[in-house]
Amino acid sequence: MESQLTLSHGRSLAATLWLLHSIAAIALVACSMSDAYGNETDRLALLEFKANIIADPLGVLSSWNSSHHFCQWYGVTCGRRHRKVTKLDLQSQELSGTISPHIGNLNFLRVLYLQNNSFHSRIPLEVGHLSRLLHLYLNNNSLSGPIPPSLSSCSNLLNISLHYNMLQGYVPANLSSLSKLRVLWLNHNGLSGEIPLSVGNFSSLEDLDLGNNKLSGRVPDTLGNLRNLKALSLLENNLVGNFPSSVTSISSMEVLDLGFNQLMGTLPLDLGITLPNLQFLSVIYNRVTGSIPKSIFNMSQLNVFAIASNSFTGDVPSFQKMSSLIIFGISGNYLGKGQANDLNFLCSLTNATNLNTLEISDNNFGGEVPKCIGNLSITLDVSLLRGNVLSGTVPSSIGNLINLEVLSASFNNISGSIPPEIGNLRKMKRLYLAFNVFTGEIPHTLGNLSMLTDLSLRENYLMGTIPYSLGKCQSLLALDLEDNKLAGAITPEIMSVSSLSMSADFSMNNLTGELPVEIGNLKHLGILDLLGTSC
Ligand SMILES: *[C@@H]1O[C@H](CO)[C@@H](O)[C@H](O)[C@H]1NC(C)=O
Ligand SMILES: *[C@@H]1O[C@H](CO)[C@@H](O)[C@H](O)[C@H]1NC(C)=O
Ligand SMILES: *[C@@H]1O[C@H](CO)[C@@H](O)[C@H](O)[C@H]1NC(C)=O
Ligand SMILES: *[C@@H]1O[C@H](CO)[C@@H](O)[C@H](O)[C@H]1NC(C)=O
Ligand SMILES: *[C@@H]1O[C@H](CO)[C@@H](O)[C@H](O)[C@H]1NC(C)=O
Ligand SMILES: *[C@@H]1O[C@H](CO)[C@@H](O)[C@H](O)[C@H]1NC(C)=O
Ligand SMILES: *[C@@H]1O[C@H](CO)[C@@H](O)[C@H](O)[C@H]1NC(C)=O
Ligand SMILES: *[C@@H]1O[C@H](CO)[C@@H](O)[C@H](O)[C@H]1NC(C)=O
Ligand SMILES: *[C@@H]1O[C@H](CO)[C@@H](O)[C@H](O)[C@H]1NC(C)=O
Ligand SMILES: *[C@@H]1O[C@H](CO)[C@@H](O)[C@H](O)[C@H]1NC(C)=O
Ligand SMILES: *[C@@H]1O[C@H](CO)[C@@H](O)[C@H](O)[C@H]1NC(C)=O
Ligand SMILES: *[C@@H]1O[C@H](CO)[C@@H](O)[C@H](O)[C@H]1NC(C)=O
Repeated sequence: MESQLTLSHGRSLAATLWLLHSIAAIALVACSMSDAYGNETDRLALLEFKANIIADPLGVLSSWNSSHHFCQWYGVTCGRRHRKVTKLDLQSQELSGTISPHIGNLNFLRVLYLQNNSFHSRIPLEVGHLSRLLHLYLNNNSLSGPIPPSLSSCSNLLNISLHYNMLQGYVPANLSSLSKLRVLWLNHNGLSGEIPLSVGNFSSLEDLDLGNNKLSGRVPDTLGNLRNLKALSLLENNLVGNFPSSVTSISSMEVLDLGFNQLMGTLPLDLGITLPNLQFLSVIYNRVTGSIPKSIFNMSQLNVFAIASNSFTGDVPSFQKMSSLIIFGISGNYLGKGQANDLNFLCSLTNATNLNTLEISDNNFGGEVPKCIGNLSITLDVSLLRGNVLSGTVPSSIGNLINLEVLSASFNNISGSIPPEIGNLRKMKRLYLAFNVFTGEIPHTLGNLSMLTDLSLRENYLMGTIPYSLGKCQSLLALDLEDNKLAGAITPEIMSVSSLSMSADFSMNNLTGELPVEIGNLKHLGILDLLGTSC
């Protein structure tokens, strides 16, 4: 597959220290207010909770019996003095059932961890009674129905994690009255409707993930009011309208993921100046137009720059300050002018010593592949240049990129011979140089690529014989040499590659002779296309 890689972002935005402080502070207040020891309400609420569990394959709730005080039951933590339940942690216990409304009676509860189980049905409205709740984790279950607006009454909440469920309906507008909330993860649900305007009222929010839902409408400008926001993901919704330029007023922003929507408009010209802390920028698969702002130059913290599959035009500016760049993906736009020097920006990427992925496919880049491609970081493992109008030869310096696993330069106008230095790229798995104007012989050094699974040299002007050495590529699954000027015989060596299971295409060449008896070794061969050969 020569397709673009899609990106999903990892996040790591801890506010752990701050949280520990607040837990301690709130705990002190709670203690001084409590009087009763062993309040019966909590025991009954826990028993009701247990009664709604229909499967407990690990037997964790068997300890919830009368032989011990409920504060000693598995997963239950009580306050030291008042003996009220402060934490219920039953995460990842393979529990199935519903969440009992009686959970709302655990009125000293600060932490509720029920994530990664099989709870189904609705989130009970009564959760809204948990006024001391700080952390609500119900993610990775099968919860359905709406997000209860009553949650907005849990005014001490710091974290809400409801991602990976089947929740539906709107994002409740009055949730934004949770003025202490730092993390709101609602991604991977079936939420619909518009993002409420009130989203701008979450005054402490640092991390908002609404990705992978069915949200529609425009991204509200009020987002720009979230002065503490560090991460925003609206990935994979149906959002329309212009790129939300309001985000440029949030200088704390580190992760901005707007991929897979229908956003239009242009990137703000001053993006690189207003968001100096940005580490992750993705707008892949939208309809953004215009040029890549030159101010990008100043985004020295960027790890991921991903604007693939939009309608960007013009020159690509310098990235020389981006020494932290790991993924650079601009495929599927209208960048470049089809002229010499279009790829000059590549040289500015040589400072990115952790660069891993370079995707510039399917644009309008012309001119030659610059020699500095060999000065890119040796950490590079994917390089996709296909579908441009590149001409000239492939620089032999490509042989420096010893960790390359995927190289595609197909569908260009690249001439000259295939540099034998490609044989240095010992980790190469997929090599595509099809649909170019390569001449000369297939370098025998390709036989050194023992991990190679796919090789396509289709539609070039390659001459000479198929090198015997290809027989050493014992991982090959697909070999496509169609439409070249190869002569001589299909050798027994190549036919002895037993892994060649998907396809081998030798058609439209000038191959001669008999099919070797070794053909019998290719037990799994799906397509053996000899059409047009004289075999
Ligand atoms: C709350 O969220 C923050 C940020 O994701 C995280 O670092 C922290 O561990 C969470 N707190 C708790 C108690 O789970
Ligand atoms: C338990 O405590 C709650 C409030 O903290 C109170 O409303 C309830 O009456 C108490 N129940 C018992 C049985 O003491
Ligand atoms: C009751 O819980 C205790 C642990 O708290 C456990 O050792 C005991 O086996 C449980 N009894 C029953 C009948 O499950
Ligand atoms: C989720 O729970 C399963 C058991 O159901 C466990 O194997 C897995 O490690 C848990 N995942 C996480 C991230 O805790
Ligand atoms: C939730 O599910 C996602 C996707 O399957 C997984 O990456 C994540 O580790 C899970 N989280 C937990 C707490 O199990
Ligand atoms: C939010 O709305 C729900 C239901 O409409 C209500 O119960 C709750 O009190 C409201 N919360 C706030 C903080 O106004
Ligand atoms: C959001 O805050 C504005 C003031 O900034 C206020 O007028 C509005 O009522 C709030 N909206 C909600 C839904 O709380
Ligand atoms: C980078 O930032 C500096 C300082 O703010 C500014 O002078 C310069 O013009 C910026 N560069 C670009 C290309 O925008
Ligand atoms: C690499 O970074 C240094 C320091 O910022 C700069 O002087 C140099 O020109 C950069 N190299 C390239 C190839 O952009
Ligand atoms: C680029 O690599 C070549 C060797 O391939 C080396 O001679 C040259 O000095 C390098 N240039 C830079 C700017 O590192
Ligand atoms: C391909 O490159 C040659 C020069 O190597 C040039 O003459 C020709 O116009 C190019 N073809 C296309 C379609 O760009
Ligand atoms: C094909 O090979 C034959 C002999 O091997 C040679 O005479 C002929 O010129 C070749 N044809 C082409 C188009 O290269």
